[in-house]
Amino acid sequence: MAYPYTHDKEVRLLSRGWGDPASRTLEGWKALGGYEGLRKALEMSRDEVTGVVKDAGLRGRGGAGFPAGVKWSFMPKEKKGPHYLCCNADESEPGTFKDREIMRWTPHQMIEGCLIAAYAIQADHVYIYCRGEFFETNEIVGRAVEEAYEAGLAGTDILGSGVNIDVTVHVGAGAYICGEETGLMNSLEGRRGLPRVKPPFPAASGLFGKPTTINNVETLAAVPHIVVNGAEWYRQWGTEKSPGTKLFCVSGHVKRPGNYELPLGFPLKELIYDVCGGMREGRKLKAVVPGGSSVPFLDAAECEDCSLSYEGVVEAGSMLGCASVMVMDDSTNIVKQVRRTVDFFSHESCGQCTPCREGTTWLARILKRIETGRGTEEDLQTLLELGDQMTGTTICVLSDSAAAPVRSSIEKFRDDYLALIRRGEKVGAA
Ligand SMILES: Cc1cc2nc3c(=O)[nH]c(=O)nc-3n(C[C@H](O)[C@H](O)[C@H](O)COP(=O)(O)O)c2cc1C
Ligand code: SF4
Repeated sequence: MAYPYTHDKEVRLLSRGWGDPASRTLEGWKALGGYEGLRKALEMSRDEVTGVVKDAGLRGRGGAGFPAGVKWSFMPKEKKGPHYLCCNADESEPGTFKDREIMRWTPHQMIEGCLIAAYAIQADHVYIYCRGEFFETNEIVGRAVEEAYEAGLAGTDILGSGVNIDVTVHVGAGAYICGEETGLMNSLEGRRGLPRVKPPFPAASGLFGKPTTINNVETLAAVPHIVVNGAEWYRQWGTEKSPGTKLFCVSGHVKRPGNYELPLGFPLKELIYDVCGGMREGRKLKAVVPGGSSVPFLDAAECEDCSLSYEGVVEAGSMLGCASVMVMDDSTNIVKQVRRTVDFFSHESCGQCTPCREGTTWLARILKRIETGRGTEEDLQTLLELGDQMTGTTICVLSDSAAAPVRSSIEKFRDDYLALIRRGEKVGAA
């Protein structure tokens, strides 16, 4: 099957069935072994289900990499009222396009993962919070939820187990900040999607003030496979600290961009030069942003020995984030790239925190000044100081995320800035 691009080094676990419209239906998902995980989970105790996910070492795929089983174990054991699970399907991080593919090709994979997680944490209700712009995808997910209800896989007395779990699909209005877990909960409650101050953490007081767990689509989609096959099986891929497979969203100046499912710890250079077919003709690698626009740049030297695990990318000088690998060649104007990224954050800041609201605006203005040949060398120091004031001082990490590419680009690509400042020269056309 030729899903836009595939490669024989891929381990197609979550991406199995992609490219085949039959996988979208309940029948098609069952033909791939679907809902065996749910069936098995319902025969296990809730703690056993959490235990196997913990032992597998599955780390959250939404960006922070927090272990899913550990997160589930924070939920109260004694139930005093409703518990909730939110599936974060808001996927808005620039460069990220994996969750939409899970939902578009194998929506039941995500729904099954949601139902298993909900069972483990005693959730009565699952809310799937979908990005508003995913029109086609959201229809597919809605139909799959209906199919699950009709087949007795969701709702009352699931598969005759006596367990009741409702599933609601909620379509957002297209704000990046609603992907932040507490902004998402406010939005679901009908309020503005403003992030909340933590503590209290969602497991203590989340959606409607009740114990809540929030997980990313890809995290939940991995769960049925782990429950069916066990923790050791899952650990055959990846590293000790980053087990399993991961969907890498590769974009930019490679010959074959796309989604590739690979074991965590896969070498970055092999991803670029083998799996993605190498750089565009006649061009050299200049920079990689390995985890979506919120993480620091890697320069070409740092890419040399970078292994794509959570710990490997930190060691190389950045973060894996949601594994959205943006590859840039030597035609790239890094200052322009950073300015566009900061414009995005400035537009998406919810405005609650002064360092973020004002800081992102000022970063964008100064970068624009430099880009258009009106900057000074002092501006670089101002950008760095501004970035420091924006880091670790706000309610959520959007502010830190805006500062990270600015800081790392000045440290690693200072000459690009200086060329524009000193000679008004363009560093590249892209
Ligand atoms: C500004 C901002 C936007 C975010 N957007 C998303 C998103 O679109 N999807 C997502 O899964 N997580 C997003 N996150 C991370 C979530 O807050 C949360 O950590 C994640 O959904 C938890 O799931 P996981 O543990 O399975 O990774 C965002 C975080 C921030 C600060
Ligand atoms: S850091 Fe920015 S986006 Fe996050 S809560 Fe504060 S103002 Fe809003």
